[in-house]
Amino acid sequence: MNIGILGTGHYLPTNVVTNNDLEKIVDTNDEWIRTRTGIKERRLATEEVDTSDMAFHAALGALEEANLAAEDIDLILVATVTPNTSFPSVACIIQDQLGAKNAAAMDVSAACAGFMYGLITAKQFIDTGAYKHVLVVGAEKLSKITDWSDRTTCVLFGDGAGAAVVGEVGEGKGILSFELGANGAGAKELYLNHDDHIIMNGREVYKFAVRQMPDSTVNVIEQLGLSRDDVDYLVPHQANIRIMEAARERLGISEDKMAKSIEKFGNNSSASIPMALSEAVKEGKIKDNDLIVLVGFGGGLTWGAVALRWGK
Ligand code: COA
Repeated sequence: MNIGILGTGHYLPTNVVTNNDLEKIVDTNDEWIRTRTGIKERRLATEEVDTSDMAFHAALGALEEANLAAEDIDLILVATVTPNTSFPSVACIIQDQLGAKNAAAMDVSAACAGFMYGLITAKQFIDTGAYKHVLVVGAEKLSKITDWSDRTTCVLFGDGAGAAVVGEVGEGKGILSFELGANGAGAKELYLNHDDHIIMNGREVYKFAVRQMPDSTVNVIEQLGLSRDDVDYLVPHQANIRIMEAARERLGISEDKMAKSIEKFGNNSSASIPMALSEAVKEGKIKDNDLIVLVGFGGGLTWGAVALRWGK
């Protein structure tokens, strides 16, 4: 069976916070943030908007693009490190809001690689014939776990959500290869502390990511016996422009073939890949039959990549 993405959606909070705004709360500056990370601004959700609200809106968009009703969904997987609460899951909250009464629901915890883990989990349920349609969402309100006095992390993150409906697609289309991985020995480099704040060893995470993201990108293409120039579009996790560029350069593709939403949205953890993907689809940057690679990495440490032929 060919299993792919039937529709995408994303949601962005309206509150824009620029690098200049951050200069007022920590000792930083626009030039440092832009040159070291590629970020110019990010969106932050207001107090009354929680992770599930953003997930809900992104899911509605994906269902509409897939031309499916909420009742058609058999399983909801929400990748998040910032659930409203540890239980019920965000997936259960949006199951109710959407009216997806036939869907099982659970959250997936794989940090910034969460959407990749969700997408591949969805594929397994459909491959076995157990389910027909799975809604996979990446949603994060990172602002609630950001230490706003730590300049080494608070400049990096933003809030938002992205979603995809996964199901059967036509011959030759859909997910062609994937790679998922983890290295728990690296857990100490990026984690949530007891005060519910992100703690990150930026240099160590950078060293890991700048090797892993290009490696995984190439691995999923080589698994197919294809060449790097066959890739039409790359959607990397939007963590740092320098890490994203390393993956792009290893593929040898031009700049216009890589999704680059980091400038406007910062790092949205599990939401960054589906948000960037949905935006690229809406802007017409991804066309039918394009070979695209999605690739991400994150706390855990975790990583994942997928090569897929776009279209229904
Ligand atoms: N504004 C100004 N200066 C800052 C700063 C900020 N926001 N944050 C750190 N600095 C300073 C540091 O204190 C350091 O000063 P020093 O040399 O006097 O000690 C200097 O800038 C360089 O810091 P360094 O950590 O070496 O910078 P870097 O080039 O490694 O960039 C990151 C830092 C965080 C941008 C980079 O390491 C990174 O992107 N890592 C990966 C993070 C990531 O992807 N996380 C998400 C995983 S999903």
